[in-house]
Amino acid sequence: MSSQNTYNYKVVRQFAVMTVVWGIVGMLVGVIIAAQLIWPDLNLAPWLSYGRLRPLHTNAVVFAFGGCGLFACSYYVVQRTSQVRLFSDALAAFTFWGWQLVIVLAAITLPLGYTTAKEYAELEWPVDILITLVWVAYAVVFFGTIAKRRVKHIYVANWFFGAFVLTIALLHVVNSAEIPVSFWKSYSAYAGVQDAMVQWWYGHNAVGFFLTAGFLGIMYYFIPKQAERPVYSYRLSVVHFWALIFTYMWAGPHHLQYTALPDWTQSLGMIFSLILLAPSWGGMINGVMTLSGAWHKLRTDPILKFLVTSLSFYGMSTFEGPMMSIKTVNALSHYTDWTIGHVHSGALGWVAMVTIGAIYYLIPRLFGRQEMHSVKLINLHFWVATIGVVLYIAAMWIAGVMQGLMWRAVNPDGTLTYTFAEVVKEMYPYYTVRLVGGLMFLSGMLIMAWNVWKTAAGQRAVDDAKIPDLALANA
Ligand code: HEM
Ligand code: HEM
Repeated sequence: MSSQNTYNYKVVRQFAVMTVVWGIVGMLVGVIIAAQLIWPDLNLAPWLSYGRLRPLHTNAVVFAFGGCGLFACSYYVVQRTSQVRLFSDALAAFTFWGWQLVIVLAAITLPLGYTTAKEYAELEWPVDILITLVWVAYAVVFFGTIAKRRVKHIYVANWFFGAFVLTIALLHVVNSAEIPVSFWKSYSAYAGVQDAMVQWWYGHNAVGFFLTAGFLGIMYYFIPKQAERPVYSYRLSVVHFWALIFTYMWAGPHHLQYTALPDWTQSLGMIFSLILLAPSWGGMINGVMTLSGAWHKLRTDPILKFLVTSLSFYGMSTFEGPMMSIKTVNALSHYTDWTIGHVHSGALGWVAMVTIGAIYYLIPRLFGRQEMHSVKLINLHFWVATIGVVLYIAAMWIAGVMQGLMWRAVNPDGTLTYTFAEVVKEMYPYYTVRLVGGLMFLSGMLIMAWNVWKTAAGQRAVDDAKIPDLALANA
């Protein structure tokens, strides 16, 4: 039986290719806004202005690039580990085309200035309804496949994917409750501080479940597969799962320190953020230790390099996050580029790197090839990406701490030492380094696109569906 009959690889292939395409688009917009912060003259037209392109960047990288990567990997993993075809090909195709339509609508409406003004939930109500429909279809396909699985055990990666699918549904529906006043304008159903609280309960859990839980699902399948070793501790992976999903839900108020939110809520957010360090690092250690006995592979296998380096950045950003949630630290870091550095050590270092590693794993298998067209180019991609991230985040850390310190500096007579414009002027060198780092990361994506193209154009040689999965769990 060919892979066409056993597993639905078509939808996985479509999502995998679009991950690369949207990655390039989203990061290109990131590079443009990074350049606009250096050269404001690049705000050439209202629809090309920083204020409109910034949400386009975040939506494109998080929901288009990250989202397509999550769809591709979860559909592949749930089929392989359940040993059945997806629950419904038609619904799976609907999720692909529906999600692409959401992305295209975002790419049109955001530059036109239509926005709810809620970060990461900017899309207006008609698009919100479409997202809900696609997500319900996704849940039916994913859980339907789990329900008809041929193996009794539900592999841990699927628990993470499942939590991601369910939680995003809940977050989206609650936070997008809004009252339409026209076809492209609505107002939030919540007011004042309640609105802020709901928004950051959403925002933080979008980080926790969209940018973390789903990608941990990817980590738990692709690292053992690529290292050809079972997960270091399957027991730890289960503890990791429950501890992580329980703790994330409470940490949202750390985005609202020193606001009108009741003080105890802010402290609660801080405490849960500090607790979150433990499950996060438990997961990171579990992933890294899976390489026990296979460390030598890191020397020759650039896909494994992507996957393992992503975990180091995951560890770094989940150490930094809890520190930034401490009120006194947040008093310095909030509103500064430190946050932007933290965001991208998570987003580029963790999310993008783990996705890239998984897509390199998938592409030859989805196109029936022995391996990627050029392993050397994967290696090159790895180095430009890694140096790019390091330049980006190091520049933002320095810029951020400088901003924080300069803003709070006061003269003996109580006046501010620096004007706001003086602080902005000091930022130029760091913004330039960030732009260089971003350009490097983007060029890595272009190398990837070329390599994927050449792989897809090669000769069909193997049928991945016939290759069984080795034991992933050691317990
Ligand atoms: C070439 C790569 C990238 C470049 C050059 C870039 C650049 C930027 C810039 C200039 C900003 C605005 C910073 C500010 O307001 O001061 C930004 C914000 C943001 N980017 Fe990126 N970015 C890149 C990749 C990514 C990726 C891959 C992700 C996610 C997977 C991501 C997620 C975000 C988020 C969530 C924000 C908003 C942060 C906040 O509001 O605190 N970026 N990016
Ligand atoms: C233990 C885990 C983490 C904790 C406790 C944490 C905590 C924090 C804190 C305290 C802030 C600053 C809030 C502010 O001052 O406005 C923040 C911002 C942010 N973090 Fe994390 N973080 C964690 C992990 C991550 C990871 C892994 C990612 C990405 C994949 C990420 C993405 C973000 C984003 C996008 C923002 C900016 C939100 C915004 O203002 O638009 N975080 N995080």
